[in-house]
Amino acid sequence: RSVGIIGAPFSKGQSKDGVECAPNKLRAAGLLDRLQQQGCAVKDYGNLTFENVALDEPVNGSKSVRTVGSANQRLSEAVKAVKRDGHTAMILGGDHSLAIGSIHGHTAAVGPVSVVWVDAHADINTPLTSNTGNVHGQPMSYLLYELQSKVRAPLTIYPKSHLQHRMPQMFFFSPQLPPLPNFSWMKPCVSSRDLVYIGLRDVDPAEHYIMKLLAVKAFCMTQVDQLGMARVMEETCDYLWDRAKKPIHLSYDIDAIDPSITPATGTPAVGGLTYREGVYITEYLYQTGLLSAVDMVEVNPLRGRTEDDVRSTVSTAVDLLLGCFGRRREGNHPPDYSLP
Ligand code: ARG
Ligand code: MN
Ligand code: MN
Ligand code: MN
Repeated sequence: RSVGIIGAPFSKGQSKDGVECAPNKLRAAGLLDRLQQQGCAVKDYGNLTFENVALDEPVNGSKSVRTVGSANQRLSEAVKAVKRDGHTAMILGGDHSLAIGSIHGHTAAVGPVSVVWVDAHADINTPLTSNTGNVHGQPMSYLLYELQSKVRAPLTIYPKSHLQHRMPQMFFFSPQLPPLPNFSWMKPCVSSRDLVYIGLRDVDPAEHYIMKLLAVKAFCMTQVDQLGMARVMEETCDYLWDRAKKPIHLSYDIDAIDPSITPATGTPAVGGLTYREGVYITEYLYQTGLLSAVDMVEVNPLRGRTEDDVRSTVSTAVDLLLGCFGRRREGNHPPDYSLP
């Protein structure tokens, strides 16, 4: 077991300062030592540096698109290199727009992956459907084959006209993506059948429409309540493995966890996962042996009201990461303690 850590102190996918501080906060909370103590070989690739692209005017209302595009190009190369070096990749964000480069680089190195997206939000707006213009609410739409303008075949179903007066803005255009500046380096690389959402509870109407259109598998909080996390994880893997077992990319937005535990984040949403549910996801995916890359995003040390808010958010994020790399709540011992 070896982990390659990439810090991605990037915040231009949304408008609140502070997410760029998270990689160093997570390290300062003892992440590397604790990974080593539980038997992981750790290589820290350090933090990437990103440039602000000058004259980055909004594109179709979306902000900092060029800056987000070039940052993700850099991240994609970095993740590709970590995978080629043979590590499980750990990407410390940064906001969730980073999933574009992270997942892209991962697939560039290993081929098709399954994506488990743990989040309060679906982050599947296109630049045309986004109400906020924040790219961190859009990464999944950039990655899906089915939403690219050249792939029209699966998108022949349109909503019944009686719905149009309820959601007027989203039906004046097709859901597909327009071409975006500084994104020509990337190609879509995820099939909607290889994506599972867990923890959703704040999904925009256009996002919900896209998810239904593409029949994306989602365990929103209602299903988590109904089934319990143990069954959610079983069904997640059954669903993903129905076609083939592929390397898993876990994209973990800290706002999936209830804000009573992880308040230091930019877009908190009430009614989230418990600490235990959140950790269980990581333990379960670890034991599949297929976890190949993990993003931890949207930790914002400047958003908590108190020091304790920040401490609780950061230490939960660290525990989730440790869970991805073999930490067990029953206890661990170093590999060199041999048992008789
Ligand atoms: N749906 C909203 C938007 O598109 C919120 C997205 C929040 N995303 C996140 N990564 N925290 O702007
Ligand atoms: Mn979110
Ligand atoms: Mn649902
Ligand atoms: Mn997110």
